[in-house]
This record gives sequence, C-alpha cells and structure tokens, in this order.
Amino acid sequence: MTGRLQGRIAIVTGAGQGIGAATATAFATQGARVVIAEKNTMTGAAVARAIAQAGGEAVFCETDVTDKQSVTDLVARTLGSFGSVDILVNNAGANVFHEPLEMPDSEWERCLKLDLEAAWICARAVLPSMLEREYGSIVNIASCHAFRIIPHTFPYPVAKHALLGLTRALGIEYAARGIRVNAIAPGYIETPIAEAYWNTFADPAAEKRRAYDLHPPKRIGRPEEVAMTAVFLASDEAPFINAETITIDGGRSVLYHD
Ligand SMILES: NC(=O)c1ccc[n+]([C@@H]2O[C@H](COP(=O)([O-])OP(=O)(O)OC[C@H]3O[C@@H](n4cnc5c(N)ncnc54)[C@H](O)[C@@H]3O)[C@@H](O)[C@H]2O)c1
Repeated sequence: MTGRLQGRIAIVTGAGQGIGAATATAFATQGARVVIAEKNTMTGAAVARAIAQAGGEAVFCETDVTDKQSVTDLVARTLGSFGSVDILVNNAGANVFHEPLEMPDSEWERCLKLDLEAAWICARAVLPSMLEREYGSIVNIASCHAFRIIPHTFPYPVAKHALLGLTRALGIEYAARGIRVNAIAPGYIETPIAEAYWNTFADPAAEKRRAYDLHPPKRIGRPEEVAMTAVFLASDEAPFINAETITIDGGRSVLYHD
C-alpha cells in the first residue's frame, strides 16, 4: 500500500515535540521524507530517530526559524539531500501572553517574530523551488486565537490573526502556479505545554477536568488529530482547498454561552 504522501519531501518546523512531532511522524507514516526543522537538538534528533526506528525516513536539521540564515541553510540542505521541497508545515510557535500595557517591548518582538514572521521567512525560502516545479503545499499552524480573543493573551492573537492573513495572501498570490497555502486553527490540545500549565494549579486534575468540560466532546484535542488534518491539507486529497483554515476544537468555538 502506498502512503498518502508517498515520495513527498516535507519540512516540519518545531517538530521536536507536541503538534510538530505528531505531524512529522504522521507524514513519515504516510510515506513522506521529513526534515525535522527544530532548534532543540535533543528533541529534534530524538524525533528523527524514532521515525527511522519505526521504518520511516526523517532527518533532523538544527534550525532557528526566526533566523533567515538558519532557514536558508535548512532549505539548501533539504534540496541538497532530497532535490525538492513539496510541503512546508509552519508549526514552530509559542504562547506569549500578557496584559497589553504590562507587556515589555521585547515580548511583542519575540511573539511577532516567532508566531508570524518565521512563517514568512520559511515560506519565502521554499517558494522559489516550489514555483519552479509548480507544486507545493504550505500548512500554517494558527490557533483559535486567530478568530477569538481571550483577555491577557496579548500579543499572541495579533500574530495568529495575521498568520491567517499571510495564509490567504500567499494562497491567492501563487494559486495559478501550483501552490496551495492553508492553515489549521487548533483549539485546546493535550501537549506537554498543557500538562505543565495544569501543574501550576493546586489541583492539576481539577484544572484538567475543567478544560475537558469546556468542550462539547468533554475532552480536549490530541496532537495526532491536528497531524491528520495536516496530512489531508498537504496531500493531493485537497487539490482545490486553498487559502482556507480548518478549525480543530471539537466544536467549542461554535458552542453558545449564556
Ligand atoms: N498546544 C495547543 O493547545 C495549541 C493550540 C493552538 C495552536 N497551537 C500552535 O501549534 C503550534 C505547536 O504548538 P505545540 O503546543 O505543539 O508547541 P510546543 O511548545 O510543544 O512545541 C513547539 C516546538 O517549536 C520549537 N521551537 C520554538 N521556537 C523555535 C524556533 N525559533 N525555531 C525552531 N523551532 C522552535 C520548540 O523547541 C518546540 O519543539 C504552535 O504554533 C502553537 O501556537 C498549539
């Protein structure tokens, strides 16, 4: 049986843990050759090793996605090793949450650089080779914060709203030349970050239960569920889906609150 991404070359940023690791693993399971673009050498190398041990193909490339030279090197290495880049998943990101007026300027810069500009740095680096072959799929991992605002989470939603703008602008710009650019907006996903957050409460189990209860299915999402959607959007199963965003939140954002 051939995989849904058989023979494709994919770069997944921030693939050392969480949603990125699940996406890289799902891509490899579906037959893609995956480049783990991660700044943490320990986790990045470990994910590449785990994929190889499971019979998949992955290489780790130490990368800081906020650094143009580092991304240029990543793409040069990918093209050198594999000859092309078919898929880019802009996943690396971080929560940067403040009350706006209490936020240091450096936090604004850190957030906009990682949660927005890095996606453009990476897209800009892969697009020339994708355009040359008139084939490419870019998937940006946004967030429900790209549509809705939770107070004191500034400026993360500013960056994620703009990431949808980037998705739509690039999707339209290159649609006639074989490129698709889409986004995924995950809600609350069970990652090490969520676990660490619950552990900041006196009763972590109660806080976890509260998070589950906020969602119509009475649970939160799993990294693998975001990864499955990334496989779909990146694959040839979605050839006419472009400049679009798929929300993965179990219906929470549709639920009416009184
Ligand atoms: N976890 C959630 O509930 C959730 C919800 C909505 C959106 N998201 C988004 O999904 C993406 C992944 O989230 P996650 O929870 O898996 O995060 P995570 O913190 O578990 O993993 C992020 C990875 O990115 C890497 N990284 C950070 N800065 C980097 C840089 N400059 N260069 C290269 N790699 C870098 C980290 O080392 C880490 O391995 C992020 O964009 C996040 O905003 C997450």
